[in-house]
Amino acid sequence: MRSHLLALGATLVASVLATPSSTYVRHEKRTSLPSGWRTDGKLPGHEILPMRVALSQSNLDKAEEYLMEVSHPDSPKFGQHWSTEEVAKAFAPKQESVNAVTEWLKSSGIAPERISRSQSLGWLQFDATVAEAEDLLKTKYYLHRHTDTGKPHVACNDYHIPKHLSRHVDFITPTVHFDAKIPQVDVPRRPIEVRYLEGRPPKTTLSTAAVGVPVQTKAAVQVITNPKNSYHPKKGADVDIHRLSDELRMCNVHITPNCLRALYRFPPNSRANRKNSYGIVEYTPQAYLQGDLDLFFANFSTNQVQRTPTTDLIDGAVVQNIVESFAYNGESDLDLEYAMALVNPQPVTLYQVGDLVEGASFNTFLDAIDGSYCTAGGGDDPTQDPPYPDPLPGGYTGPKNCGGFAATKVISTSYGYNEADLTAAYERRQCNEYMKLGLQGTTIIYSSGDNGVAGNLRQCISTNSTGNGTTYNDGTSGKFNPGFPSTCPYVTSVGATQVVPGASVTAPEEACETVIFSGGGFSNVFPLPSYQATAVKSFFANFPPPYTAAQFNNTQKTRGFPDISANGANYVVAVDGVFTLVYGTSASAPVVGSIITLINQVRLDRGKSSVGFINPTLYANPGILNDITLGGNQGCGTPGFTAVKGWDPVTGLGTPNFPKMLSKFLSLP
Ligand SMILES: *[C@@H]1O[C@H](CO)[C@@H](O)[C@H](O)[C@H]1NC(C)=O
Ligand SMILES: *[C@@H]1O[C@H](CO)[C@@H](O)[C@H](O)[C@H]1NC(C)=O
Ligand SMILES: *[C@@H]1O[C@H](CO)[C@@H](O)[C@H](O)[C@H]1NC(C)=O
Ligand SMILES: *[C@@H]1O[C@H](CO)[C@@H](O)[C@H](O)[C@H]1NC(C)=O
Repeated sequence: MRSHLLALGATLVASVLATPSSTYVRHEKRTSLPSGWRTDGKLPGHEILPMRVALSQSNLDKAEEYLMEVSHPDSPKFGQHWSTEEVAKAFAPKQESVNAVTEWLKSSGIAPERISRSQSLGWLQFDATVAEAEDLLKTKYYLHRHTDTGKPHVACNDYHIPKHLSRHVDFITPTVHFDAKIPQVDVPRRPIEVRYLEGRPPKTTLSTAAVGVPVQTKAAVQVITNPKNSYHPKKGADVDIHRLSDELRMCNVHITPNCLRALYRFPPNSRANRKNSYGIVEYTPQAYLQGDLDLFFANFSTNQVQRTPTTDLIDGAVVQNIVESFAYNGESDLDLEYAMALVNPQPVTLYQVGDLVEGASFNTFLDAIDGSYCTAGGGDDPTQDPPYPDPLPGGYTGPKNCGGFAATKVISTSYGYNEADLTAAYERRQCNEYMKLGLQGTTIIYSSGDNGVAGNLRQCISTNSTGNGTTYNDGTSGKFNPGFPSTCPYVTSVGATQVVPGASVTAPEEACETVIFSGGGFSNVFPLPSYQATAVKSFFANFPPPYTAAQFNNTQKTRGFPDISANGANYVVAVDGVFTLVYGTSASAPVVGSIITLINQVRLDRGKSSVGFINPTLYANPGILNDITLGGNQGCGTPGFTAVKGWDPVTGLGTPNFPKMLSKFLSLP
């Protein structure tokens, strides 16, 4: 009886679906190919596609409420973080969604025995011929080829699903999405730049080589092996270490750990807490050199010589030493030298992610620290996230690392995409994972970008709209190009400041305008979070920016970034055996991460929890930060936004004032 009723239901659904495409709605579309790709014709109908349906998770409408409950300073439940199991249970897709999608597939001729589910039902998976998939999604599949590497990629331009399923499906793959592995964007990107110490560095660096460079290019293997690769940051002259003797008087020309302690008023640390932890994320082929750490420690943190980070190798990761140059070692050396020195003797965890062949995406990392993402909740996208085991020659052949690594209490990452590189559905899904980590008491820190209101490679969004969707230009005009994950409201985005040239370390800082400009602006995807509403409203009321919707989403209803900032200019870093100066929000992020780690240590010493998601406390207590009111973040042929009194999309709420932050966080439950 029961099974008959079910069969009847399926038949009814089928007959509805068989009626014209009016019951179908477009679910996602992409109107142009990412630069660097060309279409290589239709895909033959008999080819097999590994289809995956990302089911909508439940209770996401309550996510902000849940997170505020454990992170808002006025909440009596502040610090009562959730367990991994509680998180997985709260957000697992509803059975109703699983059923609805399964019925649709069945009625469209995908027999039930062909469909499998991921452990927690987050994904439905099946193999289908191109012809079947085209019929199912009312679309056409094309083979695309990368113009430089010849790498093939299967995609359609849009796809449709029955209207009643829209709320049950996040997205389906493979469809419109394109490759977005971190090294493809970020090794080419100049995360940090080096300039000569002699004389004043130029106000801006023109990276003409970057103009016209495809947004998404170059597999990691190309970056590693291709000597013609033109992306490497420029390496400056060495710093004469003897000139650093009067360290604290020189902070306007070189930043050292003691300069940062003076700027943000935090002492050298003296102890570790076993419950405390601090993670720095690096994406292969970026790698640190122990010799560089030792050189740095010998000069700036003598008892740490030969100290290594606790290294978690994720998905066949290697700390590669095949290629040694600023482009490959600069980011890792910078992050680890400063993070390790500032929290010493607290150990620092290095999450080294991805092998030399596939590279990795942020989702690869999330998989490794949060099993619910790869098995239970389900967030990976096989067309955007590298597959492990790695199918390419020489790649990692072991199993995908899933949930095997603990999340540290603070996780700092100095890499990023343009928000426009990825689809909104993909970004929302990843952003929700940061929310889940916040619920579990982890502080997620991302650098805000180094190109002001422009995006990676200093590109802006072309306003030459021909209906072809997002394309980037040379950065001299166009729409502002905000960065992701910084626009995710569940991360803490860190911008950059500098000591005013010629000023002392005790004088107020200004927005960084040396070599780099602090990334900042407003999301085109994420709505304004409640914790930020007052700050953003008062910014628009008191200092309305002189731009229109042609430059940015000026509805005042979208997430603004960054949240906080820290010095990002003139860092003395040991790279490839010499000291050089380094610039970027890449430097600012691990400094803020270190300060939060020191605050966690005192809370943990007193039997309290880690601070977790800090934004609600920062925005409710702007006085615990040093407001920055000078400078701007130029880009896209404009002066960008201006640092003003209160929050601004250049330096956020300002730089850390450690004693005030510590006292506030210690006053919370
Ligand atoms: C700093 O590093 C240089 C270069 O290795 C070394 O010669 C010098 O002794 C170091 N200074 C200190 C104070 O350790
Ligand atoms: C639009 O495209 C034309 C032709 O490619 C170019 O000359 C012009 O500068 C572009 N304008 C903008 C605002 O990007
Ligand atoms: C838009 O797409 C059409 C068709 O693919 C192409 O012919 C045209 O050159 C594209 N225009 C731009 C500005 O990319
Ligand atoms: C601006 O953001 C709002 C709120 O997220 C959104 O509804 C609107 O569509 C966006 N406008 C544009 C032009 O992107």
